Amino acid sequence: MKETKPQLQNPISQPPAPISILVTGGAGFIGSNFIHYMIKAHPNYIIINLDKLTYAGNLENLKDINRMDAGFKEQDLVGGGFENKIQNLKHQIQYPISDIQQSTRYHFVKGDIANTELVDYIFERFKPNYVVNFAAESHVDRSIENPKIFLETNVIGTQVLLDVAKKHWLASGKWKEGVKFVQISTDEVYGSLGPQGYFTEKTPLDPHSPYSASKAAADLITKAYFDTFDMPINITRCSNNYGPYQFPEKLIPLMINNALHHKKIPVYGDGKQIRDWLYVEDHCRAIDLVMQKGRIGEVYNIGGHNEMENIQIVNKICSILDELYPISKNPTSNMQHPTLKSYKQLISFVADRPGHDRRYGIDATKIHEELGWQPLVDFDEGIKKTVEWYLNNQEWMDRVTSGEYMKYYERMYSWR
Ligand code: NAD
Ligand code: TYD
Repeated sequence: MKETKPQLQNPISQPPAPISILVTGGAGFIGSNFIHYMIKAHPNYIIINLDKLTYAGNLENLKDINRMDAGFKEQDLVGGGFENKIQNLKHQIQYPISDIQQSTRYHFVKGDIANTELVDYIFERFKPNYVVNFAAESHVDRSIENPKIFLETNVIGTQVLLDVAKKHWLASGKWKEGVKFVQISTDEVYGSLGPQGYFTEKTPLDPHSPYSASKAAADLITKAYFDTFDMPINITRCSNNYGPYQFPEKLIPLMINNALHHKKIPVYGDGKQIRDWLYVEDHCRAIDLVMQKGRIGEVYNIGGHNEMENIQIVNKICSILDELYPISKNPTSNMQHPTLKSYKQLISFVADRPGHDRRYGIDATKIHEELGWQPLVDFDEGIKKTVEWYLNNQEWMDRVTSGEYMKYYERMYSWR
């Protein structure tokens, strides 16, 4: 009689089944923070980062990721067998930083979310369970200068991702188990508030800038895939984020960078516009919760009830810098501005942004009640950590502000 060996079963030593997430725009500010967060929070997750590396995408934001390898091999996830088929796409797949390439939990693909063939290839090869779509042109001032690219990436790019996901996730009228498309949107789609009230998920969309209009369009096409095809989706709408790795065209890092170089700190209009600021890691945790537990088809607002006028933020940054890196210790200052005593002296009110939204304020009751989310980092702690991060990473700032950035800066601020 043939003996059958008993199967060894040791559930403790079995790693959980890998789950793969296609993160788009993962080399940008929030996307790179999200990848750091997810790699730490979920040892069984594999991340594929598809990013075009525009001026806002920086692989340096992810350079330490390969040290967090849980030991999955690519074969655990990849069926294989289509290498030949995609030979002609090979030239589009680049792994510019070798240490990132080594990680089996993290894969970088350089490319455009609007490239159907490439996105299709990624789905074939990595079989993602989730798509989290951060990729976007994200800066209001740039959208005023050149709206077209905002429609190409934010609207068409989102539609391409939705369509390819549908192709791979829907078979014989049934959606695969455990898949979801998470569209990362913004509170700016709701338009501008007066002094009272908050944006809820039911507030009608009323975007004003080409950026927010393109994000609203992306939300609507995402919702249309749910309404029409039952596609498992969520949309998140978050308030303004701050934290490490934010490109210095946005308020907080721009002000820090200018202050450190003793350049004018340009406050638009009267500086009394209000934004509702959230530390980026709190946003990442909220996205993770929505991805795993959000009710299919729902929109979730994310915000920390932390409304502040721009001028208050700028004053706070200057006070922190005065404390952590006083003018007297900043060697370049005395030569340029011998009378400078505080960074606040650099504040300068400049021409306003056209169509400037006055106030954003998020009501995040729904995500709190349904998913138990609330922000953990209060603003005083978060802004101090953030200023410290930029002080400790001045080389990062110098690198991202060289070259093209200087031309942009001239275009945006020379006339103000
Ligand atoms: P970001 O500009 O820092 O990063 C965007 C990333 O997308 C970059 O890495 C860029 O290279 C990439 N990208 C651009 N076009 C692409 C394309 N066609 N294909 C592939 N990659 C492309 O933006 P962010 O501040 O990190 O914002 C990320 C997302 O979060 C955006 O969708 C934005 O609308 C949303 N959001 C941002 C904030 C905020 O305060 N920054 C608040 C709420 C929502
Ligand atoms: P920004 O960081 O561009 O985010 P958003 O416009 O998406 O909210 O701007 C935040 C606020 O800061 C907004 O009211 C515009 C203002 N702002 C300035 O006053 N000066 C600046 O140089 C920048 C970039 C922004």
